Amino acid sequence: MTITGDHGADPAKVFAQETNGEIDVVRARRETPGCANVLHFNNAGAALMPERVVEAVIRHLELEETIGGYEAAERAEDAINRVYEAIAQLINCQPQDVAIVENATRAWDMAFYGFDFQASDRILTAKAEYASNYLAYLQIAQRTGAVIDVVPYDESGQISVPRMAEMIDEKVKLIAITHVPTNGGLVNPA
Ligand SMILES: Cc1ncc(COP(=O)(O)O)c(C=O)c1O
Repeated sequence: MTITGDHGADPAKVFAQETNGEIDVVRARRETPGCANVLHFNNAGAALMPERVVEAVIRHLELEETIGGYEAAERAEDAINRVYEAIAQLINCQPQDVAIVENATRAWDMAFYGFDFQASDRILTAKAEYASNYLAYLQIAQRTGAVIDVVPYDESGQISVPRMAEMIDEKVKLIAITHVPTNGGLVNPA
């Protein structure tokens, strides 16, 4: 999605109008200069940044340098609010349900450590769970006596939904699986 420089237009609408709702790969490559240097398959926070993202970040830092952090945030308020609206539209929730933090691990930890785990509470997870999520389970297991149970794969390598159903009982406090784990192309039937 492109964020326009004038901060005036709704990025979701601009995207829909400019692209007919489809990603124009040629344009996306053109707007992502790093594509000229590398074949880069890593995504999300580790992706090559599009030019407009780099520009927006630098512009905001320069604004902070010029007028101060709170003042810059105030001036960018409309644009920032539109990010919450666009994300809510994308994942089908309300803008107030969206929290933006610095990275996925931090976001996960904030939610996970909010649970009040007790001894013998069970956490169901998958073999391909992301390592930093799993580290948090291990820490809670050590600290509280909660139990981590790993749901087996089915023959395709995805988490086995029937096996998971069998493993659910009243002690299960959390079922936490990564939908699309790092590497390998696995997509779990989340
Ligand atoms: C499946 C999955 N979850 C979480 C993360 C963590 O992302 P972050 O570096 O934003 O904490 C990654 C990073 O590669 C990931 O692949």
